[in-house]
Amino acid sequence: MEPPQTEPLDVDRIRSDFPILEREFDGTPLVYLDNAATSQTPDQVVDAIAHYYRHYNANVHRGLHQLSQEASIAYEEAHDRVAEFIGASGGREEVVFTKNTTESMNTVAYAWGLSELGPGDEIVLTEMEHHAALVTWQQIAKKTGAEVKFVRVDEEGYLDMDHARELITDDTEMVSVVHVSNTLGTINPVSELADIAHDHDSLIFVDGAQSAPHVSIDVEAIDADFFAFSGHKMCGPTGIGVLYGKEHLLEEMQPYLYGGMMISKVTFEDSTWHELPWKFEAGTPVIAQGIALAEAIDYLEDIGMDRIEAHEEALAEYAYDRLSEFEDIDILGPPGDDRAGLVSFNLDSVHAHDVSEILNSHGVAVRAGDHCTQPLHDKLGVPASARASFYIYNTREEIDTMIDALEDARELFA
Ligand SMILES: Cc1ncc(COP(=O)(O)O)c(C=O)c1O
Repeated sequence: MEPPQTEPLDVDRIRSDFPILEREFDGTPLVYLDNAATSQTPDQVVDAIAHYYRHYNANVHRGLHQLSQEASIAYEEAHDRVAEFIGASGGREEVVFTKNTTESMNTVAYAWGLSELGPGDEIVLTEMEHHAALVTWQQIAKKTGAEVKFVRVDEEGYLDMDHARELITDDTEMVSVVHVSNTLGTINPVSELADIAHDHDSLIFVDGAQSAPHVSIDVEAIDADFFAFSGHKMCGPTGIGVLYGKEHLLEEMQPYLYGGMMISKVTFEDSTWHELPWKFEAGTPVIAQGIALAEAIDYLEDIGMDRIEAHEEALAEYAYDRLSEFEDIDILGPPGDDRAGLVSFNLDSVHAHDVSEILNSHGVAVRAGDHCTQPLHDKLGVPASARASFYIYNTREEIDTMIDALEDARELFA
């Protein structure tokens, strides 16, 4: 294994790749702290998209002409690049391109869940799942008669692993767990959960939307059966997501979207399916987006995933410490030195939407709301929270700007 790279990031150099970060609103510089929703896109990725459209835009797989061949090679190789990025030794066969994490989740829920689940079967989720998982499995359970159970989140924002061991039984068919909580910042012990799931012959789906952009991922070390993430949270464009699946599972699964590109032989009576991963990519696929995702991966890996992780965790700890200086601020989730690069919080008696509006008037972009974790917010007894989430181009000074702007909110609502 490579030793982790530890030198700090050259944030000034990185920022020069993101012209959007130079924006000002009435002279107030933008402080972009909404990266868990969508990260910004570096010039290198924008250029890769422009280059594709300018020089080799064509449909893939079907054409024998030169442009189509060039587009096909780049699109197919983008799958290989993703496989390498997440440690999928099966290569492109294990990497399906989708629209986003949500679609990756639905692909498994429909293609696997509808045929494999039935009354008596259980799906184990956690109380901190994003709606992408929670709503999807909840609705598949309703369709199939399976039951959904939720692993408790404790007061500090960690999963109650004793409860997980109680809930995951021989009746469990699927454990679906978020790797890093987009609300709490908790980093979940996914490989331990995979071991528990596999001891009971259950599959495990890991939602990597908030981990793949920030830490080095090895799906085989985790032993995830399925793993999903979105390009737009990791310097890539919108409209591209990834579904990793172990090859034998994807092989056994039937497609749930039908049409062109995903077939092998079609007659008036019946059809057979193309090889992996194309049988799950019906119709004209996400060509430019897939190629640009590979470019985004090159960009992140040039910086170094270990350094990215260290940079963000340091920022999260700093933000946590600064926010903790105030008695009227309540922070959700684990301690500052044990969380991913985001901090959700509430300022006493000021609604998170108002906090976010006031921060916006200082140029600071944070998220306010339930962050697609309504049941978790209900459990925590808060209607919403404000969330600051960090990426490669953020600085401590930007966190200081947020803290100063919070003073304004405090004064306005005093
Ligand atoms: C943990 C988690 N899972 C899933 C998603 C859904 O991602 P997308 O909207 O790209 O499908 C998000 C997005 O915020 C997320 O944070």
